[in-house]
Amino acid sequence: MTSYAGEYRKSLDDPAAFWGEAARAISWNRKPRQVLDEENAPIYRWFPGARLNTCYNALDRHVVAGRADQAALIYDSPVTGTKRTYTYAELLDLTARFAGGLEACGVTKGDTVLIYMPMVPEAVIAMLACARIGAVHSVVFGGFAPAELAVRIDDARPKVVVAASCGVEPTRVIEYKPLLDEALRRAGHRPETTVVFQRPQAVAEMGPQDVDWRTLMTPNAVPPAACVTVEATDPLYILYTSGTTGRPKGIVRDNGGHAVALAWSMKAVYDIGPGDVMFTASDVGWVVGHSYIVYAPLLAGATTVLYEGKPVGTPDAGVFWRIVDEYKVNAVFTAPTAFRAIRRIDPSAKLLEGYDISSLRTLFLAGERLDPDTYRWASEKLGVPVVDHWWQTETGWPICANPRGLEDLPVKAGSPSVPLPGYDVQVLDPLGQPLGPDQEGAICIRLPLPPGTLATLWQDDERYVSSYLSAFPGYYLSGDGGYRDGDGYLFVMGRTDDVINVAGHRLSTGSMEAVLAAHPAVAECAVIGVHDELKGQLPRGFVVLKAGVETPGDQLRDELVTLVRTEIGAVASLRRVDVVAALPKTRSGKILRKTMREIADGAPVSVPSTIEDVSVLDALTPVLRG
Ligand code: COA
Ligand code: AMP
Repeated sequence: MTSYAGEYRKSLDDPAAFWGEAARAISWNRKPRQVLDEENAPIYRWFPGARLNTCYNALDRHVVAGRADQAALIYDSPVTGTKRTYTYAELLDLTARFAGGLEACGVTKGDTVLIYMPMVPEAVIAMLACARIGAVHSVVFGGFAPAELAVRIDDARPKVVVAASCGVEPTRVIEYKPLLDEALRRAGHRPETTVVFQRPQAVAEMGPQDVDWRTLMTPNAVPPAACVTVEATDPLYILYTSGTTGRPKGIVRDNGGHAVALAWSMKAVYDIGPGDVMFTASDVGWVVGHSYIVYAPLLAGATTVLYEGKPVGTPDAGVFWRIVDEYKVNAVFTAPTAFRAIRRIDPSAKLLEGYDISSLRTLFLAGERLDPDTYRWASEKLGVPVVDHWWQTETGWPICANPRGLEDLPVKAGSPSVPLPGYDVQVLDPLGQPLGPDQEGAICIRLPLPPGTLATLWQDDERYVSSYLSAFPGYYLSGDGGYRDGDGYLFVMGRTDDVINVAGHRLSTGSMEAVLAAHPAVAECAVIGVHDELKGQLPRGFVVLKAGVETPGDQLRDELVTLVRTEIGAVASLRRVDVVAALPKTRSGKILRKTMREIADGAPVSVPSTIEDVSVLDALTPVLRG
């Protein structure tokens, strides 16, 4: 094993040598001659001039190398009672055919394709098919409502939308097609075609611009597509994520840096190589799904498990252990909330008894803070190392982790361990000065960010710079606050902006506030994320009514909860809105959301000296604590 410290130093002292070496794991059509282009700093580009195809690296080259009959993807769907294994040869065949179908719909290199699908193999095939022909995919999580989908359609301006007829949740079937049709009615942009994958649980009505997935996939209907060579710096995908404002940010991932970084991370962080099996319980609509369900396991020649179900209730809290046993899984990756859900139902992990989980080497958790209790429970019950690692949609792969493939570093509960090679993590004070050990501040990363991290925001370099690179020149602002201890271990204490994490899902309180504020009875409002035992955080809304409003409180609260559900989606999980007389503010009119959150969480409360009227806060305190 190499030493972590040596690799880390090398990556910062000579990034070009470090990542140039890592690039050898990728098959290039034109090998990189230059590793890092700093000409347009603070916007950097990795491997300019090099050329490749990401789909070729994920599929074709493994078939060429003799892995044709190895399982590439295992689909396990307890909610539909389906299990199916796709070998590398089969996944390649289906992908090439669907890529041909996209070409038949007029999609060419550089066009965007929006994918609105649940956890079905066809979602993975659609993503890889886009990569194959150099189209840029944008997957939208199925739990988002039409209005959110419409915003993404208008920003990504897809030539084609690929959708499934429905998603299957444990208690209900969600028809996607009517949601998509509603989004298209709201959007200004008109895609030319919608390809619909019909599922038997709810068959969608087809319109004149809709094409059935199966028509495109009929043998010999369209010729399979070959890989189109793209520039390393060309975009592979756009993934929208919540920011401080209601308008989501279109994170752009390039092809070359992404392939290099993900392939490197599989070995160094996840200790997963060709023939190993990785089970990432997330959703293809999130970055964890993009990176560690789809691209990284396939780039590594491993087998990925695509699971359509929940950690509990489909059918029970032993389903993860069943999957590990059945497919001989070597690494599980999910969000801490999934383990809290399992523990709540099966605290002594009795359901483990029926399964052989000896293949499991490591459990990886990310997406939200891993509380020490859950960490200890998982370590004790599974008897394998539990790795908390910290990253973001923006970075695409972990910033901090215990790198299992490099060195077994000591674990500290409550910390995602140390910065990975490529990430010069610093904690800064408000003036941008690096802070010493144990001092809390803004967690930032010195530029350049390593390959695989966001190239920019979709067609908006300016917003990229103003959102992430302007607060502290020379640094990327992560949006998280925290500190490093004397050993260099990072402790992430939470967001410093209006982003909250609900069951590992990243949501913007700003966009929920925009929905509440649009109600005719509401004069002003605030949404804050409060601590929740299961989901980590839950949103709570507070509204002040316009003078003269006579709607009964209960009815209004229900209306507001429903409004957020229909405008943002069920995934927002806003269940409680309180009507209050006033909101606490500073003298300049800024609502004291942080103070409200501290009171609701029972944390030490910091009341700024600039508060306008302390009696407003006093009156609100019992409501916040209630
Ligand atoms: N399409 C449509 N609706 C969806 C959806 C999807 N893909 N995913 C979730 N929803 C809906 C759910 O049905 C639920 O609706 P409801 O309010 O009518 O019950 C709502 O959105 C909230 O869903 P969820 O956050 O999944 O909560 P839950 O109470 O159903 O389950 C957990 C709780 C902890 C079991 C669940 O959140 C979980 O498995 N988390 C794992 C973490 C994870 O995958 N994180 C991703 C990043 S790593
Ligand atoms: P997302 O972009 O959805 O992956 O969410 C990223 C955010 O989730 C980060 O900015 C953190 O606030 C939070 N997060 C992710 N992983 C961790 C972790 N291991 N510990 C603490 N917070 C985390």
